Amino acid sequence: ELMGQHVKSQEKETRLANALGIQHCTIVIGNSDKDKSSLVDMARASTEVIDFLLPEGSSTIAVMGGTTMLEVAEVMTQQIGLHRELVFVPARGGLGESVDIQANVIADIMARKTSGKSRALYAPEHVRMETYSLLLEEPEIKETLEILENTTLVLYSIGDAFEMAQRRGLDEETLSQLIDKGAVAEAFGEFIDPNGDIVYKLSRIGLQSSKLPSIPHVIAVAGGKEKAEAIRAHMKTVPPHTWLVTDEAAANEILNG
Ligand code: G3H
Repeated sequence: ELMGQHVKSQEKETRLANALGIQHCTIVIGNSDKDKSSLVDMARASTEVIDFLLPEGSSTIAVMGGTTMLEVAEVMTQQIGLHRELVFVPARGGLGESVDIQANVIADIMARKTSGKSRALYAPEHVRMETYSLLLEEPEIKETLEILENTTLVLYSIGDAFEMAQRRGLDEETLSQLIDKGAVAEAFGEFIDPNGDIVYKLSRIGLQSSKLPSIPHVIAVAGGKEKAEAIRAHMKTVPPHTWLVTDEAAANEILNG
């Protein structure tokens, strides 16, 4: 019976990966929107994927912020750090959202849990174009961005466009613009429509999505029925070697929706 269930879920994982045009999907039981244990399972599955993909020796891991990433950080163990020298680098500045889910904080937790190191990227999340160009010239920031572009692995989540717009404090005008243009997802500061086309982009300091194809290991972690549409749209923008860790609720919605 158990064996049968396992085979069935592997079959669904393959079906989902094929539907999304990516290398691999891991699907955990439940709906992580509603069920904390499903979220924890998704986080644990993510650490298993990292452990599987990451080579021994020195690596940098670029990490984004958000509640899903925080959960992954919380369940990380020494296992990941075994035979590895790891440096966790925040993939974006992230000042401007609540401290506990900032990429800086998450990179630091991950480093502590795995006996690795972390590097900070202190830059405001959302800056004016003039400030942005100047910040990019700062040696400390420049160096961190170079490290990010040469990272071994990137770990991030995908957000619902509207929820992310509110969390990132976008003004009413931008919010209604996002609705008009049919934005459904946000990741890497890019708001996209169901076709995966960018409808709005935040000028932000950090790893740009255009670098994903050259990063050896790309892992997205996102689940919950509510995020199904965001996941489906976002996966149209990623390189084929991307791995997705998700849950049944999102998977079923993507496959049947
Ligand atoms: O850009 C996407 C967000 O970081 C996802 O945040 O994990 O809190 O839903 P979340």
